Amino acid sequence: MNELLNKILFLPEQASTFAERVDNLHYFVVAVTMLSSLVVGTAAVFFFFRYRRRKPNQTTEYVVPSVKTEFLFVSLPLIFFLTWFVIGFRDFVFVSTPPKDAMDVYVMGKQWMWKFSYPEGPNGVNVLHVPANRPVRLLITSRDVIHSFFVPAFRIKMDAVPGRYTQTWFEATKPGTYQILCTEYCGLSHSKMLGEVVVLSPEAWDEWVKEQRKGNLQNRQDALADLSLAPHPARMAEQGQKVAAEVGCFKCHTVNGEPHIGPTFLGMYGRTETLDNGQNIRVDEAWITQSMMDPGAHLVAGFPNVMPTFQGKLTGPQTAAIVEYIKTLRTPDIRTGASSQG
Ligand code: CUA
Repeated sequence: MNELLNKILFLPEQASTFAERVDNLHYFVVAVTMLSSLVVGTAAVFFFFRYRRRKPNQTTEYVVPSVKTEFLFVSLPLIFFLTWFVIGFRDFVFVSTPPKDAMDVYVMGKQWMWKFSYPEGPNGVNVLHVPANRPVRLLITSRDVIHSFFVPAFRIKMDAVPGRYTQTWFEATKPGTYQILCTEYCGLSHSKMLGEVVVLSPEAWDEWVKEQRKGNLQNRQDALADLSLAPHPARMAEQGQKVAAEVGCFKCHTVNGEPHIGPTFLGMYGRTETLDNGQNIRVDEAWITQSMMDPGAHLVAGFPNVMPTFQGKLTGPQTAAIVEYIKTLRTPDIRTGASSQG
């Protein structure tokens, strides 16, 4: 019956154990408020006609309500409010307390993607694989700004905050694919920060884990290093240099201080640059990341607008690694706060 009601009310499909609890409270609140509106509205219309002024200068009787009716009018709404509170609080405690046997998944938000890592398994970008009928605990953090992890079909939503971990959990009830949305405005491509939860049957899940484990050890360690709040910048920088070479950064950017088609990487981090819109910015991690994702909007004055976007071409860890690499190319005078370029 819930499925039908959900269709009528345009609610998303229910695909977790929590979804039904949230919807039941929602229906209860909507039913009570609709019924009360109906009663109050009908009474208002009835009184409007029944007690209308029939003769000029007619006044109405002064009515003193009995304590009993006053009591009824106060206690009835109070009972409903308290019931909502009790149910709501019970559900809040339910979703705040992951079961002890829950499977852990680390979730990292960054502009503009979701990264998932399993402590003893594979990792993925934008697609979260989970088994059905098994509680999953999400440990959520962010690499840059505040994001928010939202799966409408599961009725769960939790902020991803840089520098700290938040948690929530769910138990998916049926195999299928469900949308993940970012619900905290986080910059230019916030609306494109989408993902999917793929819920697999227990058999399909075992298959998938086996598949992923083949030669995935290095991947997994990289993912965990990237997720820890104190990653290993030296190792990341090393990877970053490799990735930068692979994707062709050095065709346009030198590391010897000579500007080429694009600005040189040497001394770029921390430098003050004038953009072609006249704005002065100090080059930091966020700016470098944004320049890779949306180069046209972050063009340094005096350079042609020819850089392609790397959105979707670089994974989260790859982007972070390139940023770390560029950070190692600081020139000594940058540390004193002076500009390295004229
Ligand atoms: Cu991430 Cu909005």
